[in-house]
Amino acid sequence: MRGMMLAGGAGTRLFPLSQVSSKQLQAVYDKPMIYYPLATLMNAGIREIHLISSPADLPIFERVLGDGSQWGIELSYGVQPNPGGIAQAVLIGEEFVRDQPFTLILGDNVFHGQIGLDTEVAEFASGAVIWGYPVEDPERYGVVEIDNSGSVLSIEEKPNSPRSDLAVPGLYVYDGTAVSRAKELTPSERGELEITDLNMSFLADGELRAAKLSRDATWLDSGTHESLLESSNFVASVEKDQNYKVACLEEVAFKMGFVSAEDAARTISAMPLSPYRTYCERAILE
Ligand code: DAU
Repeated sequence: MRGMMLAGGAGTRLFPLSQVSSKQLQAVYDKPMIYYPLATLMNAGIREIHLISSPADLPIFERVLGDGSQWGIELSYGVQPNPGGIAQAVLIGEEFVRDQPFTLILGDNVFHGQIGLDTEVAEFASGAVIWGYPVEDPERYGVVEIDNSGSVLSIEEKPNSPRSDLAVPGLYVYDGTAVSRAKELTPSERGELEITDLNMSFLADGELRAAKLSRDATWLDSGTHESLLESSNFVASVEKDQNYKVACLEEVAFKMGFVSAEDAARTISAMPLSPYRTYCERAILE
């Protein structure tokens, strides 16, 4: 399966930090934010990945991530001229998708633990899959209502009166019909092609499934100053307590068998001397 990462948007909520770099290149503790969703895709076995961002930020992503060969993946890039909505990414990525199933992940979403994406990717046949994650403030997100058997009853974008406490994280698995469905969407009141409207299209045809994120999985949306700090604190705490790095792409690539030990050694030898390099040497080469 292929993967798409969406890393555009205005990032206005992070002003004045957003003047320095795009939101998805800000630091989440010791790595650029985009490393985390990229690691999530790689951990699910996804190796062909299309990153979509604004004309101003795309060259910086290309410089930071390159063509992905250092991690044994293929990275390609697409431009979103204006932030016209998350579902617009599906249209921009039409040629990349080529009617095949794909996973879409938002560039400011940090996942940790067993989220089950690897199983969904391995077993996916058709329709769409979303996740639900219990939160205290569901009105800030897409909200999904699920019955006892796991069927989706409703999905709403930032409802005033949420029907459940299950927020929909920025992770979606779609079959190839997503592109033609996205073409049918009209912009919402905020002028965007809404990802929730795309999901409603699958729901209307009985093709939307929702999985609950397991209790030992963590999801953080890092789009505000508070949540950015929370994400950094979370990663710092996990790395200190468990003595391993979250979303070390070199380690993920090696563990997944995307690169050999020799390839990894070559990549590591080109890194500047740093705690990150020392970690890679210890985790991969020893
Ligand atoms: O984080 C999960 C939530 O993301 C979902 O629960 C909502 O259903 C979904 O609409 C979205 O809500 P937000 O209002 O938080 O989305 P935001 O505008 O912050 O954009 C999320 C990411 O997508 C962010 O990394 C920027 C990127 N983006 C967004 C838009 C609208 C783009 O690259 N292009 C865009 O046009």
